Amino acid sequence: MNTNTDLVIDAHDVHHTYRQDGTDSPVLHGVDLTIRRGEFVLLMGPSGCGKTTLLHILGMMMRPTSGSVRVEGVDVGSMSEAERTRFRRERVGFVFQRFNLLPILTARGNVELPLRLRGDTMDGQAARVLRQIGLLEKADKKPRSLSIGEQQRIALARAVVTEPHLLLADEPTGNLDSATAGAVLDLLANLHQSCGLTTLMITHNEHIATRADRVLTMRDGRIEL
Ligand SMILES: Nc1ncnc2c1ncn2[C@@H]1O[C@H](COP(=O)(O)OP(=O)(O)O)[C@@H](O)[C@H]1O
Ligand SMILES: [Mg+2]
Repeated sequence: MNTNTDLVIDAHDVHHTYRQDGTDSPVLHGVDLTIRRGEFVLLMGPSGCGKTTLLHILGMMMRPTSGSVRVEGVDVGSMSEAERTRFRRERVGFVFQRFNLLPILTARGNVELPLRLRGDTMDGQAARVLRQIGLLEKADKKPRSLSIGEQQRIALARAVVTEPHLLLADEPTGNLDSATAGAVLDLLANLHQSCGLTTLMITHNEHIATRADRVLTMRDGRIEL
């Protein structure tokens, strides 16, 4: 597969309509978006304007109704579901607003999960990332005995442990108080700085804007120019 491209994301004329119980809800009306390798891009816009929908399409969790999406030069629309899943596990990390940590696993178990899913040997990668986010000493704790901020840092560790080429974050600080949110955003910005991780983050937090390369605004299903 050709991955020799500077564009990590290259989406063109993306439309999406949800169909439910015979009702059509058009949400995306022709999104064009390119993100270059190493960029830290924020996506803002009013609630309900289609940000999460777009993130799920770019992250190959959903197919758009029409339009083309290239990830690292590869047309992901022409792939089978199995190919998309493998490609996603290799290249994309996700962080969600509601962490989605598995309660029965320890912090370390949660961080190791994406490695297991793709059949990696563990050889210390989880411990390395846990140390990087300052939570190695909590590795054997279950999520419920961690603070909310710690849980989100674990979710971030889980997203980057596979060394993805693209990090997609959907309001990762939406459930955090402002001090905790600041710590998580610092961690994200530092991760981006230290490894040049291409990052697209949906946020309502204006403070992080100064640390981003670009701030995009979405309105009425399009990205404003
Ligand atoms: N699975 C779904 N089925 C039908 N409508 C949906 C679905 N998911 C989201 N929507 C609708 O699509 C619109 C955009 O949602 P979303 O992408 O979550 O926006 P945002 O993340 O900007 O708040 C909203 O009106 C929402 O109600
Ligand atoms: Mg959303």
